[in-house]
Amino acid sequence: MKILVTGGTGFIGSHTTVELQQQGYDVIVVDALFNSRIEALDAIASITGKKPEFEQFDLANRAKVDDFFRRHQDIKGVIHFAAHKAVGESVEQPLKYYRNNLDSLMNILESMHKYGVENFVFSSSCTVYGEPDPENLPISEKAPIKKAECPYGNTKQIAEEIMQDCITAYKGLNAIALRYFNPVGAHESARLGELPFGVPANLMPYVTQTAYGIRPFLRVFGNDYDTPDGTPIRDYIHIMDLAKAHVKAVERMIQNKMKSRFEVFNVGTGTGYSVLDIIKSFERSTGVKLKYEFAERRAGDIVKIWADPTYTNKELGWKAERTLDDMTRSAWEWEKAYREGKTCFPL
Ligand code: WQD
Repeated sequence: MKILVTGGTGFIGSHTTVELQQQGYDVIVVDALFNSRIEALDAIASITGKKPEFEQFDLANRAKVDDFFRRHQDIKGVIHFAAHKAVGESVEQPLKYYRNNLDSLMNILESMHKYGVENFVFSSSCTVYGEPDPENLPISEKAPIKKAECPYGNTKQIAEEIMQDCITAYKGLNAIALRYFNPVGAHESARLGELPFGVPANLMPYVTQTAYGIRPFLRVFGNDYDTPDGTPIRDYIHIMDLAKAHVKAVERMIQNKMKSRFEVFNVGTGTGYSVLDIIKSFERSTGVKLKYEFAERRAGDIVKIWADPTYTNKELGWKAERTLDDMTRSAWEWEKAYREGKTCFPL
């Protein structure tokens, strides 16, 4: 059974491709390689023994998307990861985000409808909840959607609305939006992991690069928040747990187990950890002391959010299993393997 994974050479897409292949699915990857490396395909093959089919093109190009689906009408499902995702950049370049993220989504939905491909899994984000009210934590799928804090988060909100309207209009189309919290860590083989270009915006790669000596120290953006230790709280989830949730979502659709034609699931562990918790876990799991300094708050950061995953656990039959120390340890093993040239990726 063939599944299209857009953005499949990226962090979440590549780990999900590994999981899909190991569950017996054939995967075809489409990626424009704007923010990822083609060597991810070799890394996937080094784990599963199977290199995914691959086509490189920009999904915002309507003609190319249509041509692709015309040639691949045997696709049973689409998992759509491909999007720009840097919060700060989206504030500086909103139209780049609205055009890329929404044009690609609309092109895919239009061609799926035209060629009769029914099942669509969308990479959404907990940013759609904005800053949750304290009484709404842990946050469930029933929590109110708040005005997005940045254009990136707004593209996720608008995407979910576009999907719902398309499902109303196009009989046969089904969609599941997975609202991620904070994906971190790496595949246990240390052959695949998070590999941002340039200076990392996200916390975990900055931690591992600091530990390796690539960065002089980690700046902790603010320690005067209304949290137990003053640093912001997030629901960090191991990338392999997140990958497994995608396979469960595809299975739910293919086995016609959906309860409505548009479903939303919060994909988190249900536990919130602060930035200092991440640092403590990293030092505990790796034995490496981390240099860090407190700095100014980062614009756009919310204070605290963590998931209520009970609905997802029950409906998808999925539950995060890996611990925080598994996340920090695997991130470190990957960073070391990459820097020591033991992976498929060029330094
Ligand atoms: C986590 C915490 C920072 C870097 C974003 C998107 C989300 C998803 C993941 C795409 C915050 C602090 C960070 C650093 C720090 N994006 N931090 N020093 O902002 O929760 O989520 O990335 O899939 O949709 O919103 O993740 O890792 O950037 O930050 O102190 O050098 O770490 O202030 O409190 P975030 P993050």
